[in-house]
Amino acid sequence: MIMLSRKARIAVLVSGGGTNLQAILDAAGRGEIPDGEVTLVISDRAGAYALERAEKAGIPSMEINKKACGGQMLFEEKLIAALEENRTDLIVLAGFLSILTPSFTTRYSRRIINVHPSLIPSFCGAGYYGLKVHEAALGRGVKVTGATVHFVNEIPDGGEIIAQKAVDILPGDTPEILQRRVMKQAEWVILPKSVETISREIVSRSER
Ligand code: GRF
Repeated sequence: MIMLSRKARIAVLVSGGGTNLQAILDAAGRGEIPDGEVTLVISDRAGAYALERAEKAGIPSMEINKKACGGQMLFEEKLIAALEENRTDLIVLAGFLSILTPSFTTRYSRRIINVHPSLIPSFCGAGYYGLKVHEAALGRGVKVTGATVHFVNEIPDGGEIIAQKAVDILPGDTPEILQRRVMKQAEWVILPKSVETISREIVSRSER
């Protein structure tokens, strides 16, 4: 009897436009993520366009807002309840801006990955997110930047690095132009690849 290996059940956590979520969905549509399937999208903000992308793709989605939950612990409890209900194997932070405490990250050790828009250890850690990362790179005058996918642990952007991709900084780059190039040439390439790599790791572990 041929053992069909199961797929890792992936929950994608978002806060904004969801272009990284879309990159994962498009890669899956091209058959590039055979060992995983996105089964849940959770946004920490109402009206995030990422929720529209989930809806269009027919993927269950929900909004879990920290303030509405009444604080960090209740927020994480609600997140965990939704993730357990979904039998989640892998959590992907794709433009997700809420802090997760060590009690959350240690619960899902080596099962949470994040995409950061710089070559860690440059321009990362507390306060480095979104455009701020690219402003810092331009401000420092580096000639190369890029994106990193890493495991999430209790240190912001401190987990083991899974993949990186470099992107040239060009004369006349603004933070917005640079952000777009890093997303297009790096984030949207290495995140889907990393999702497949870690999905395969999780599935093969569960089959031993
Ligand atoms: C972007 O700044 C990206 O670099 C970072 O999150 C932001 C929005 O991503 N990872 P998305 O379009 O919501 O995926």
